[in-house]
Amino acid sequence: MSSKKLPNWYLQHPPIYDISKSYAKNAAEGPYFSEEIPERVFPDESEWIDFLGYSVASPIGVPAGPLLNSKFIDLALQLGYDLPVYKTIRSSAHPGHSLPNMIYVDSGGQINLKQERVFARSEPPLSIENLALTNSFGMPSKDPEFLMQDIERANRLAKKGQVVIVSVVGSHSQERSFYDDFIEAALLAKRSGAKIIEANFSCPNVDKKRGSLYTDPEVVYELGHLLSRAIHPIPLIIKVGLFKNEEQMRDVFISAANAKIKAISGLNSVSMQVVDEKGGPALGIERPTSGICGGTIRNCALDFIKKAFKINNEEKLGLTLIGVGGITQPDHFDQFLDMGADVAMSATGMMWDPYLAARYHQQKVLV
Ligand SMILES: Cc1cc2nc3c(=O)[nH]c(=O)nc-3n(C[C@H](O)[C@H](O)[C@H](O)COP(=O)(O)O)c2cc1C
Repeated sequence: MSSKKLPNWYLQHPPIYDISKSYAKNAAEGPYFSEEIPERVFPDESEWIDFLGYSVASPIGVPAGPLLNSKFIDLALQLGYDLPVYKTIRSSAHPGHSLPNMIYVDSGGQINLKQERVFARSEPPLSIENLALTNSFGMPSKDPEFLMQDIERANRLAKKGQVVIVSVVGSHSQERSFYDDFIEAALLAKRSGAKIIEANFSCPNVDKKRGSLYTDPEVVYELGHLLSRAIHPIPLIIKVGLFKNEEQMRDVFISAANAKIKAISGLNSVSMQVVDEKGGPALGIERPTSGICGGTIRNCALDFIKKAFKINNEEKLGLTLIGVGGITQPDHFDQFLDMGADVAMSATGMMWDPYLAARYHQQKVLV
């Protein structure tokens, strides 16, 4: 990026996604950004990194969610996020949840996993470090025809040194099994020209009582193997959340490597009860718990990456690690990279301060 001083964004400008509007409206009108795109000065190619076989200009990206379609991907690429993830897609169109989809929460600083609940709040905190929200979208998806064209467009927008990743998930349907549908979504991404595919394993298992897919080493092996075979030679990433303990994490990582999964991305949002001032469920009785994202999950996410790095080394798994969770300041990217992540991504942080990557790149040039 050029050395021109970037304007403050947080609380001076609205986020690029308007949480008071429906997901469909945001997708149609967004991203809400009309400020200057800073000039990007790409580092010398000798400084680029290898990411799953692609030469990438920086280890900075946006994880699945905030980039709703190719217009959002376009903005992210222009703003210096070299590894943007195209939002999680399904094999067929899906409406997702109605409003509210995102509300501010007060977690009292960095989230403590022993705390049972967090309170909804109406305004964002003064400091972006304390920015926390709950998100609950139900993974809406457009139909395959739209996605084929739009993913192709997203790929075309990437410059040399940038790669778009596509996130996929399975759906329950009458026509086929959950696994078959998951594979269909991955094949849709492949047909659309996806260069790298991420499977969202932090969604409920076939039987909800068995928790999320990623917590079960057998499921990670079975489904991971089917997916990596189906999309071969495209590299497969899985997206995971918090583990019960290190032993479970180790078993899952070993299963992932055995299934030829190439990379692990974590964390997804941290699930908690979100209550209103009267103690009732803030998102309504149908959604008593939901994922917390933003600045206050950073310690959890850093701890995850620290353990992931240790397990990956001890077991010689050769997995690529993607650090996600709570990155709201430029130096947070480095905290993840220093802890052993190969790349680092920001979702909430980039929505509330889209210049985050530009600030990071500027600092690197100045060093
Ligand atoms: C608006 C929004 C939508 C999201 N949707 C998805 C999704 O569809 N699939 C997924 O794997 N993660 C999704 N996530 C989770 C993020 O990828 C990320 O794991 C989480 O927000 C933690 O990162 P952060 O603290 O930088 O926000 C979403 C997050 C946000 C903020």
